[in-house]
Amino acid sequence: VCEGSVSALCVCSVLWVCNESLCVLCSYNDSIQERNDLCMVGEYTEQDNEPIKKVCQFKRSMLRQCSGLRDSSFGFAEGKPCIIIKMNRVIGLKPQGDPYINCTGDSPLRMQYYPSEARLDKMFFPYYGNKAHADYVQPLVAVQLLLSREDLNVEQTVECKLEGTNLRNDDDRDKFMGRVVFRVKVSE
Ligand SMILES: *[C@@H]1O[C@H](CO)[C@@H](O)[C@H](O)[C@H]1NC(C)=O
Ligand SMILES: *[C@@H]1O[C@H](CO)[C@@H](O)[C@H](O)[C@H]1NC(C)=O
Repeated sequence: VCEGSVSALCVCSVLWVCNESLCVLCSYNDSIQERNDLCMVGEYTEQDNEPIKKVCQFKRSMLRQCSGLRDSSFGFAEGKPCIIIKMNRVIGLKPQGDPYINCTGDSPLRMQYYPSEARLDKMFFPYYGNKAHADYVQPLVAVQLLLSREDLNVEQTVECKLEGTNLRNDDDRDKFMGRVVFRVKVSE
Protein backbone atom coordinates (compact mmCIF):
# COMPACT_ATOMS: atom_id res chain seq x y z
CA VAL A 1 0.00 0.00 0.00
CA CYS A 2 1.32 3.34 -0.88
CA GLU A 3 0.23 6.52 0.78
CA GLY A 4 1.71 9.85 1.22
CA SER A 5 1.56 13.47 0.61
CA VAL A 6 4.11 15.80 -0.72
CA SER A 7 4.25 19.34 0.45
CA ALA A 8 6.90 21.29 -1.14
CA LEU A 9 9.05 22.65 -3.61
CA CYS A 10 11.16 25.25 -5.02
CA VAL A 11 14.54 23.98 -6.00
CA CYS A 12 13.84 20.34 -5.35
CA SER A 13 10.74 18.51 -6.17
CA VAL A 14 9.65 15.00 -5.68
CA LEU A 15 8.52 12.54 -8.19
CA TRP A 16 6.16 10.35 -6.34
CA VAL A 17 6.48 7.02 -8.02
CA CYS A 18 4.31 4.43 -6.49
CA ASN A 19 3.27 2.69 -9.55
CA GLU A 20 4.52 2.16 -12.97
CA SER A 21 1.29 3.02 -14.70
CA LEU A 22 2.24 6.67 -14.33
CA CYS A 23 5.44 5.84 -16.10
CA VAL A 24 7.15 8.93 -14.79
CA LEU A 25 10.50 7.32 -15.40
CA CYS A 26 9.86 6.29 -18.97
CA SER A 27 11.90 9.07 -20.48
CA TYR A 28 14.81 7.66 -18.46
CA ASN A 29 14.53 4.20 -19.99
CA ASP A 30 17.98 2.93 -20.83
CA SER A 31 16.95 2.33 -24.42
CA ILE A 32 16.11 6.02 -24.79
CA GLN A 33 19.06 7.30 -22.79
CA GLU A 34 21.52 5.31 -24.87
CA ARG A 35 20.90 7.82 -27.65
CA ASN A 36 22.16 10.62 -25.42
CA ASP A 37 25.70 11.66 -24.70
CA LEU A 38 28.13 10.46 -22.10
CA CYS A 39 29.27 13.67 -20.48
CA MET A 40 32.22 14.49 -18.26
CA VAL A 41 31.56 13.54 -14.66
CA GLY A 42 31.79 16.53 -12.33
CA GLU A 43 32.01 19.12 -15.11
CA TYR A 44 29.33 21.48 -16.36
CA THR A 45 28.16 20.74 -19.89
CA GLU A 46 28.48 24.27 -21.21
CA GLN A 47 27.36 24.68 -24.77
CA ASP A 48 26.17 28.25 -25.04
CA ASN A 49 27.35 28.57 -28.59
CA GLU A 50 26.36 25.18 -29.94
CA PRO A 51 23.32 25.31 -32.18
CA ILE A 52 22.32 21.80 -31.13
CA LYS A 53 22.62 21.10 -27.45
CA LYS A 54 23.69 17.69 -26.40
CA VAL A 55 21.80 15.85 -23.71
CA CYS A 56 23.67 13.98 -20.99
CA GLN A 57 22.67 10.44 -20.36
CA PHE A 58 20.89 9.45 -17.16
CA LYS A 59 19.86 5.83 -17.28
CA ARG A 60 17.04 4.63 -15.18
CA SER A 61 18.93 1.48 -14.29
CA MET A 62 21.27 3.66 -12.20
CA LEU A 63 18.48 3.83 -9.66
CA ARG A 64 18.93 0.09 -9.12
CA GLN A 65 16.30 -1.19 -6.67
CA CYS A 66 14.44 2.08 -7.08
CA SER A 67 14.37 1.98 -10.87
CA GLY A 68 11.03 0.22 -10.94
CA LEU A 69 12.46 -2.20 -13.46
CA ARG A 70 12.44 -5.33 -11.39
CA ASP A 71 10.06 -4.17 -8.69
CA SER A 72 7.14 -2.23 -10.03
CA SER A 73 6.03 -1.31 -6.51
CA PHE A 74 9.23 0.72 -6.01
CA GLY A 75 9.99 -1.08 -2.79
CA PHE A 76 6.64 -0.36 -1.17
CA ALA A 77 5.59 -4.00 -1.34
CA GLU A 78 8.48 -5.06 0.87
CA GLY A 79 8.34 -2.08 3.23
CA LYS A 80 11.30 -0.31 1.65
CA PRO A 81 9.70 2.55 -0.22
CA CYS A 82 11.63 4.54 -2.78
CA ILE A 83 11.13 8.24 -3.23
CA ILE A 84 12.67 9.87 -6.21
CA ILE A 85 13.92 13.41 -5.97
CA LYS A 86 14.79 15.73 -8.75
CA MET A 87 15.57 19.39 -9.01
CA ASN A 88 13.26 21.69 -10.85
CA ARG A 89 14.49 22.84 -14.19
CA VAL A 90 16.00 26.27 -13.98
CA ILE A 91 17.39 27.65 -17.18
CA GLY A 92 21.05 28.56 -16.95
CA LEU A 93 21.49 27.37 -13.36
CA LYS A 94 25.00 26.18 -12.54
CA PRO A 95 25.11 24.95 -8.97
CA GLN A 96 28.56 25.38 -7.47
CA GLY A 97 30.38 22.78 -5.42
CA ASP A 98 29.23 19.22 -5.46
CA PRO A 99 25.48 19.10 -4.94
CA TYR A 100 23.97 16.09 -3.25
CA ILE A 101 20.76 15.17 -1.49
CA ASN A 102 20.72 14.49 2.23
CA CYS A 103 17.58 13.16 3.85
CA THR A 104 16.78 12.86 7.53
CA GLY A 105 13.82 11.27 9.21
CA ASP A 106 12.00 12.56 12.27
CA SER A 107 13.00 9.28 13.85
CA PRO A 108 16.31 7.68 12.88
CA LEU A 109 15.78 5.75 9.69
CA ARG A 110 18.12 3.69 7.62
CA MET A 111 18.27 4.92 4.08
CA GLN A 112 20.00 3.96 0.91
CA TYR A 113 20.61 6.38 -1.94
CA TYR A 114 20.88 5.69 -5.65
CA PRO A 115 23.19 6.69 -7.24
CA SER A 116 25.08 5.74 -4.13
CA GLU A 117 26.47 9.14 -3.13
CA ALA A 118 23.19 10.92 -3.82
CA ARG A 119 25.02 13.31 -6.12
CA LEU A 120 23.37 15.49 -8.72
CA ASP A 121 26.20 15.61 -11.16
CA LYS A 122 27.21 18.98 -12.56
CA MET A 123 27.24 17.49 -16.06
CA PHE A 124 23.46 18.03 -16.13
CA PHE A 125 23.85 21.80 -15.83
CA PRO A 126 23.17 24.21 -17.30
CA TYR A 127 19.81 23.54 -18.83
CA TYR A 128 19.08 25.57 -21.95
CA GLY A 129 15.29 25.52 -21.95
CA ASN A 130 12.60 23.50 -23.55
CA LYS A 131 13.14 24.70 -27.05
CA ALA A 132 16.90 24.44 -27.29
CA HIS A 133 17.23 21.40 -25.07
CA ALA A 134 14.17 19.38 -25.93
CA ASP A 135 15.29 15.92 -24.80
CA TYR A 136 16.98 17.13 -21.62
CA VAL A 137 16.42 15.04 -18.51
CA GLN A 138 17.10 16.17 -14.99
CA PRO A 139 19.36 14.06 -12.80
CA LEU A 140 17.54 12.02 -10.21
CA VAL A 141 18.33 10.75 -6.76
CA ALA A 142 16.32 7.95 -5.26
CA VAL A 143 16.18 7.50 -1.53
CA GLN A 144 15.02 4.18 -0.24
CA LEU A 145 13.74 4.03 3.31
CA LEU A 146 14.80 0.75 4.84
CA LEU A 147 11.96 0.52 7.30
CA SER A 148 11.96 -1.99 10.09
CA ARG A 149 8.92 -3.85 11.32
CA GLU A 150 8.21 -1.25 14.00
CA ASP A 151 8.14 1.47 11.37
CA LEU A 152 5.25 -0.10 9.48
CA ASN A 153 1.85 1.54 9.91
CA VAL A 154 3.58 4.63 11.28
CA GLU A 155 3.70 7.81 9.27
CA GLN A 156 7.31 8.77 8.66
CA THR A 157 8.27 12.34 7.96
CA VAL A 158 11.41 12.73 5.94
CA GLU A 159 13.12 15.94 4.98
CA CYS A 160 15.56 16.02 2.11
CA LYS A 161 17.86 18.93 1.48
CA LEU A 162 20.07 19.93 -1.32
CA GLU A 163 23.54 20.28 0.15
CA GLY A 164 27.12 20.75 -0.94
CA THR A 165 26.31 23.72 -3.10
CA ASN A 166 25.68 27.44 -3.06
CA LEU A 167 21.93 27.07 -3.51
CA ARG A 168 20.15 27.94 -0.32
CA ASN A 169 18.21 25.40 1.66
CA ASP A 170 17.67 27.32 4.88
CA ASP A 171 15.64 30.30 3.88
CA ASP A 172 13.05 30.95 6.58
CA ARG A 173 10.91 32.99 4.24
CA ASP A 174 10.72 30.13 1.79
CA LYS A 175 10.72 27.00 3.85
CA PHE A 176 10.74 24.73 0.90
CA MET A 177 13.50 26.22 -1.13
CA GLY A 178 16.18 23.60 -1.64
CA ARG A 179 14.40 21.13 0.50
CA VAL A 180 11.44 18.89 0.35
CA VAL A 181 9.45 17.21 3.06
CA PHE A 182 7.39 14.15 2.53
CA ARG A 183 5.39 11.80 4.62
CA VAL A 184 5.15 8.16 3.90
CA LYS A 185 3.37 5.35 5.57
CA VAL A 186 3.71 1.73 4.65
CA SER A 187 0.83 -0.35 5.88
CA GLU A 188 1.13 -4.05 6.47
C1 LIG B 1 10.09 2.25 -20.61
O1 LIG B 1 10.30 1.05 -19.91
C2 LIG B 1 9.12 0.54 -19.29
C3 LIG B 1 9.54 -0.63 -18.40
O2 LIG B 1 10.37 -1.54 -19.07
C4 LIG B 1 8.12 0.16 -20.39
O3 LIG B 1 6.96 -0.34 -19.80
C5 LIG B 1 7.79 1.42 -21.16
O4 LIG B 1 6.92 1.13 -22.23
C6 LIG B 1 9.05 2.08 -21.71
N1 LIG B 1 8.67 3.36 -22.27
C7 LIG B 1 9.25 3.91 -23.29
C8 LIG B 1 8.72 5.24 -23.71
O5 LIG B 1 10.20 3.38 -23.87
C1 LIG C 1 22.79 15.25 6.67
O1 LIG C 1 22.00 16.08 7.51
C2 LIG C 1 22.14 15.78 8.88
C3 LIG C 1 21.12 16.61 9.66
O2 LIG C 1 21.12 17.94 9.26
C4 LIG C 1 23.58 16.08 9.31
O3 LIG C 1 23.74 15.78 10.68
C5 LIG C 1 24.50 15.22 8.47
O4 LIG C 1 25.85 15.54 8.77
C6 LIG C 1 24.26 15.44 6.98
N1 LIG C 1 25.05 14.49 6.21
C7 LIG C 1 25.78 14.86 5.18
C8 LIG C 1 26.53 13.79 4.49
O5 LIG C 1 25.82 16.02 4.81
